[in-house]
Amino acid sequence: MPQGNRYKGLIDKFKAVLPVSDTTRFISLGEGNTPLIKLENIPALIGKNVDIYVKYEGLNPTGSFKDRGMTMAVTKAVEEGSQAIICASTGNTSASAAAYAARAGIKAFVLIPEGKIALGKLAQAMMHGAEIIQIKGNFDHGMQLVKEVAEHAPVTIVNSINPYRLQGQKTAAYEIVEALGQVPDYHCLPVGNAGNISAHWMGYTEMAQPENESAAGNYSKLAVNKRPVMVGYQAAGAAPFLKGEMIDDPETVATAIRIGRPQSWDKAWAAQKESAGWFDLLTDEEILAAQKLLTEKEGIFCEPASAASVGGAIRDIKNGKIPEGSTIVCTLTGHGLKDPDTAISQCVAQPQAIEASLDAVKAAILDKL
Ligand code: F0G
Repeated sequence: MPQGNRYKGLIDKFKAVLPVSDTTRFISLGEGNTPLIKLENIPALIGKNVDIYVKYEGLNPTGSFKDRGMTMAVTKAVEEGSQAIICASTGNTSASAAAYAARAGIKAFVLIPEGKIALGKLAQAMMHGAEIIQIKGNFDHGMQLVKEVAEHAPVTIVNSINPYRLQGQKTAAYEIVEALGQVPDYHCLPVGNAGNISAHWMGYTEMAQPENESAAGNYSKLAVNKRPVMVGYQAAGAAPFLKGEMIDDPETVATAIRIGRPQSWDKAWAAQKESAGWFDLLTDEEILAAQKLLTEKEGIFCEPASAASVGGAIRDIKNGKIPEGSTIVCTLTGHGLKDPDTAISQCVAQPQAIEASLDAVKAAILDKL
């Protein structure tokens, strides 16, 4: 057997701070270990002296941060003898659940809002062989139904109300501190169901106050009792945290965060309060503009919901809420290829077709130089 030091996924790497044992079979696709990329052009464009890093979670195996939580949730479901998992989803959770269920050899049921999930996510759930149940309702309706049906059927819920999901997702905070060699001053995330902001806060908190020295110990040396200010950005049409109460009929082009009744409501408020952070909202136009800016100026393609973190951070840097000299991490939750329709529809210049001749190609190039 080869004995290399191949990366074997985040449970293997972070097992000291995760609820697994020596006999646990890890259901892994090599998730985690995503790059923390420093933005080089945008800070200059906005004329501010800040260090902005993006945690490119779109480079997880199924193209979103959900894989961090799903590897844990499915690992534990299998360990507990479950034969089937179920989730409600705006798309990414369904893609991830479908993939990890396939890997584990168990069944996945996914409830998705009809017509409101991005094409790439639907393709993934279909290809991995999940049982796809489209409902004539939104994510919040699906979530309610999943909770009810799980009381009557032998299925394990793998939405972020499953505590193992947040355990897996907290590892992103550990990776950030490890990569930066310090705790960032600000951490900005898009907020939908509010699991991810809660999971990050859990990770940062463990590192700052390790209950178990040997476990979080390596990281606590870096963290030295500091935690970042947590900032959550929502889409204007789906912003219950801004309204201060749950909402019905959420609507946004960023379908991933088209959620009115976040399940991790209390945990996310705790993260905001304990970190002296804040919530804010972006219009769909602002979200899409941020997505375009990242692709055009930095070469980084994320899906619309993800761009809310960078769009919001840029605004709060410009208005001084995030001061110069700060180190800021923005989570890019999902890959841009997830939602090709929205991407193509916002490109004004559609590709032109010309004759397959040297003259025509030369003319087309010279025209643009
Ligand atoms: N960004 C993307 C790309 C997402 O898919 C989600 C959530 C979020 C941000 C928000 O994260 O819910 O932890 O606050 N997607 C879930 C899903 C709801 O079903 O795929 P959150």
